[in-house]
Amino acid sequence: MEGTKKVKSQALLSKLATSDEHGENSPYFDGWKAYDKDPFHPLTNPNGVIQMGLAENQLSLDMVLDWIKANPEASICNAEGLHAFKNMALFMEKARGERVRFDPDRIVMAGGATGANEVAIFCLANEGDAFLVPSPYYPAFNRDLRWRTKVRLLPVTCQSSNNFQMTKEDLEEAYENAQKANIKVKGVILSNPSNPLGTTMDKTNLRSLVTFINEKQIHLVCDEIYGATVFRSPRFVSISEVAEEMECNLDLIHVVYSLSKDMGLPGFRVGILYSYNDHVVSCARKQSSFGLVSSQTQHLLAKMLLDEEFTDKYLSESRRRLASRYDSFTKGLKEVGIGCLESNAGLYCWMDLRQLLKEPTFDGEMELWRVIVNEVKLNVSPGSSFHCYEPGWFRVCFANMDDETLEIALGRIRMFVEKGKGAKSWQRNLKLSFSSRKMATSPRIMSPHSPIPPHSPLLRANN
Ligand SMILES: Cc1ncc(COP(=O)(O)O)c(C=O)c1O
Repeated sequence: MEGTKKVKSQALLSKLATSDEHGENSPYFDGWKAYDKDPFHPLTNPNGVIQMGLAENQLSLDMVLDWIKANPEASICNAEGLHAFKNMALFMEKARGERVRFDPDRIVMAGGATGANEVAIFCLANEGDAFLVPSPYYPAFNRDLRWRTKVRLLPVTCQSSNNFQMTKEDLEEAYENAQKANIKVKGVILSNPSNPLGTTMDKTNLRSLVTFINEKQIHLVCDEIYGATVFRSPRFVSISEVAEEMECNLDLIHVVYSLSKDMGLPGFRVGILYSYNDHVVSCARKQSSFGLVSSQTQHLLAKMLLDEEFTDKYLSESRRRLASRYDSFTKGLKEVGIGCLESNAGLYCWMDLRQLLKEPTFDGEMELWRVIVNEVKLNVSPGSSFHCYEPGWFRVCFANMDDETLEIALGRIRMFVEKGKGAKSWQRNLKLSFSSRKMATSPRIMSPHSPIPPHSPLLRANN
């Protein structure tokens, strides 16, 4: 009866509403559900799941909050009007080490990078066309780039033996395979710095990518949302820097940006599509009605981004805190024999648990992942959800919590590895017993770096 009702009511809906092409049924999102059902809290739920699947930058949020408190008038729109686009262009230049100039007239605002990515695809491709994406890649690209636009994403397989760097040969092969299958490739899309790898592409590889898309006359969309999270060398090289130096068709190049990661403001929903192509700018502007940023948000940000003393200090302090967090986290993992891909950016590590797999397959990866989420109570994300072709890699976020919670997470990992030492003999129902006394009595319950509880709707990110 219930089933019949469901089928009938579904028949009244669109294909979009009834298909599961949004990709939200992946373990990436299942881990979130596990966290949502049983979220860790140092006092009220010390045995709950710690959220390590959220690429959110809370380490320097105190600085943003202090700025807002010190500038209350910035929250109120007035007739004076501030130049949100101009100031955003200035900030984008700063976040790229002042090596490029951005024209405010080429900036189109959208609802986060999520919205900007989709707008870009709507401008560049038709249903059935394809984009090459180096894998492993951000799982929500399936939803953001593919679901409503109906384009295809064709992964370009990158290998751990090469630190997952994409080579020209990998690209050529993926392109040729698409040609053979009669699929029209409209472009390449990637995140640089990479989510989930936390690595940056160097100038040589970026140049070769620009050459490739010029030869094929296809587009290049670079999602640079993590641009200012680069916390150590090699420095970040924006596609804009490379493209402007090279002899190439700028009409093919588009940059996606957002304040969600670099400024730690995912709840503000400020995304940007910056295109060198006039038609794309014009079409994207028309679409931006579907995801406008409120004038109040624009006003506040315009004021904040104009305050160069603040943005300079914020960017350098944020990098320092990220580097320190990365070092302490990877050091803790190393002490229990867990390695990570060496990285220099992002809010996460790409953790290598291949030695803990009972069998080197994706089933083995899922089995291990279930134990980590359900028994070790850490929401980490399995590599398969990032379209990684090698089982055993996991993305672990480290910047969305205070120091104490990170210590607890490391303690749980330590206990898990110690229990199964040598024999890959971890079991379901591990019965790890987590001590919460230290947290409950600690006077430093929340780090000064995390003044807002992770559940605040103001800051809640969904990716
Ligand atoms: C590579 C990448 N692009 C886009 C997004 C979405 O960002 P926003 O919150 O600005 O929509 C994310 C969020 O995790 C991301 O990692």
